[in-house]
Amino acid sequence: KGTTPSAAATTGLSKENIEAAINDAYNANKDSKEGKNADYIKELANVDPNIYGIALVTADGTVYTKGDLDSRVSIQSISKVFTLARVIEEHGAKYVMDKIGVDATGLRFNSIVAIELQKGKEINPLVNPGAIAAVSLVNGADSAAKWKNILQTHDEFAGADLQLNGPVYISEAGDNLRNQAIAHLLLAYGRMYFDPVQSTDVYTKQCAINVNARDLGIMAATLANGGVNPITKKKVVSPETTAFTLSVMATAGLYDDSGQWLYAVGLPAKSGVGGGIIAVCPGKFGIAVISPPLNAAGNSVKAQKTIYDIVKKLNVNPY
Ligand code: DON
Repeated sequence: KGTTPSAAATTGLSKENIEAAINDAYNANKDSKEGKNADYIKELANVDPNIYGIALVTADGTVYTKGDLDSRVSIQSISKVFTLARVIEEHGAKYVMDKIGVDATGLRFNSIVAIELQKGKEINPLVNPGAIAAVSLVNGADSAAKWKNILQTHDEFAGADLQLNGPVYISEAGDNLRNQAIAHLLLAYGRMYFDPVQSTDVYTKQCAINVNARDLGIMAATLANGGVNPITKKKVVSPETTAFTLSVMATAGLYDDSGQWLYAVGLPAKSGVGGGIIAVCPGKFGIAVISPPLNAAGNSVKAQKTIYDIVKKLNVNPY
């Protein structure tokens, strides 16, 4: 308190401080049993609820980790960030605003009422309807080409050869009538830009990409580093695309809890029902935590608390 933001950042982000902040947060939260695995996708109920991994990756490529880095979970809604970034990169920020929208719905991530209220307009790309619309807009002449584009985008953000979690994909694809309904309702309003069944299928696949905390931490750090992967040094998207993407994360990254999150933490973030959360401190670092048990809004309880503790300790809330 009382220091300038840059002074706070310099003193706050030494190697020792980062390691201490991660260790303290890990120890403070490791025994928490709050929350419950998602089970509306049947396979997610079978994931070990004790998986708990943390990765903080600085914008210049130093990787700090703690806990379980081996276990992989399905990325779920965190994928929406990277497909959004690809669509902005390909078509521009205005196009996304016009074709999908960027305002928070204030409703659940798979709300049909949210579509109905606005006749398919003003749906943001980080909730299911907007995310399926984003898949429908991503470059690719057919669904195979769209999937290839999306998987490659995720690979480049992570600097890894990411794999599909087959059981999660099959489990969700066999049971996703609600998302299919969402895609068809958008089509009825002229807000779905490719075949709705195939767009939903590719969306379901992107949600089933398997990641560990380190993969997610590097993906977040690529956003912290203006779109250049700090490990591979590859430019994945432009700094402008990154800025627009982070803004939507700030507005809608934790669904109907986004306001509470920004109030408490002050950093753009994104959660997924697989148990992962990423948060981005622009120019400084990306952080990812995986812990499957979720609260009522669908956000990992332990991951939220862990990131909150680390951000507080490092004094990096820009507000
Ligand atoms: O479409 C779904 O419901 C899931 N594949 C993803 C939802 C999700 O991760 C919401 N996250 N909190």
